[in-house]
Amino acid sequence: MSGLIPPHGARPGAEPVNQVAIGARVEELTREAASLPRIDLSAKQSCDLEMLGVGAFSPLTGFMGKADFESVCRSMKLTSGDIWPIPILLSVDKAKAPKVGDRVALHATAPSTGKSVLQAVMTVEEVFPHDKKLEIPNVFRTEDEAHPGVKQVMEEGDTCVAGPIELIETCIDPSGPEAFLDHRKTPGETRELFQNHGWKTVAAFQTRNPIHRAHEYLCKCAQEICDGLLIHPLVGETKPGDIPADVRMRCYKVLIDTYFVKERTALTVMPAAMRYAGPREAVLHALVRKNYGCTHFIVGRDHAGVGDYYGTYDAQLIFDELDKENLGIEPLKFEHAAYSKKAQGMVSAKTFPKLEGDQVFLSGTKVRELLSKGERPPAEFSRPEVADELIQWATGKA
Ligand code: ADX
Repeated sequence: MSGLIPPHGARPGAEPVNQVAIGARVEELTREAASLPRIDLSAKQSCDLEMLGVGAFSPLTGFMGKADFESVCRSMKLTSGDIWPIPILLSVDKAKAPKVGDRVALHATAPSTGKSVLQAVMTVEEVFPHDKKLEIPNVFRTEDEAHPGVKQVMEEGDTCVAGPIELIETCIDPSGPEAFLDHRKTPGETRELFQNHGWKTVAAFQTRNPIHRAHEYLCKCAQEICDGLLIHPLVGETKPGDIPADVRMRCYKVLIDTYFVKERTALTVMPAAMRYAGPREAVLHALVRKNYGCTHFIVGRDHAGVGDYYGTYDAQLIFDELDKENLGIEPLKFEHAAYSKKAQGMVSAKTFPKLEGDQVFLSGTKVRELLSKGERPPAEFSRPEVADELIQWATGKA
């Protein structure tokens, strides 16, 4: 596919990594797996595996080895020199670790049925200790175990298993509520979609929350300067308390139906897990969207943040440290946006003076309180169609 942005670390014209087994190879691997030692994956590991298999983590072809892991933690680069901000590891308990040279079957659990699914087969090239003391402060900028990403790493195994994978299942739970098969497109497929639309520039919007007016404003500003917009919600593992992906998808769909130009807007899902690593995760989110074929990436306030761990614009500042050419995708940085009653529209500190009590702001807690009482938040905060979807969910009707 010529003319499209190259995948990360690849030459122009190259395709993203594709480790998805097809046809007779699936049967071969399934037969082989029956007699292999197995590793049971966590939800995060299963998400990472899908991302690796479909090429969303290009140029990675499997779980990281020690040299890449250390280099990523210390200098945000792979040993190849390509930017990479977050380790992609398969950690297990030492007692259960396979040996170098082994082939192993990777099993995941389908959330809707609780059934175990053979997701991939892996060749073990390296086994090494999981140096959490190196990973956690570098990736998360904190060691506080109350941070959901830190907690997740602390609970992982002490031994990492590295090597290339061959993916058997691109969606481990195809009949579950969060399968989104019509919207689950691989990087190769979104690239084809953009080319069919004739889009030369595409802005990606990462989100893990129901879409509100500030999100919509960012998307529309990006549409003014790009041919197309990819609304690309993260639908892999999120922390307890985040709104389920199927509810969010209903919100994105009703919003697009009424408030977006369909010919210029695409909605597909990203099956990654959230790490809540703020700045470093913003870089990962950008590189992944480059792999999906996007040329621009929206970074707003406290991107991928949680609690008060990161400064409002830390996830924008980190891009200034990176080699632009290797990054390859253009970050579109946005100030905190909100509805101004005086201006009667969305504004930021860059576009409208700050006036006492002018901007419409609602805390997450306040929004939930309204929704659970069946009340819409103000239209300046959330479009009524989106509010109604959320009310259905919050009141247990859908
Ligand atoms: S995130 O974890 O995916 O970053 P969320 O879905 O809330 O969370 O945000 C999606 C994108 O919108 C991020 O780039 C975030 O920085 C941006 N964003 C969210 N709210 C605002 C806002 N009020 N003003 C500017 N940017 C925002």
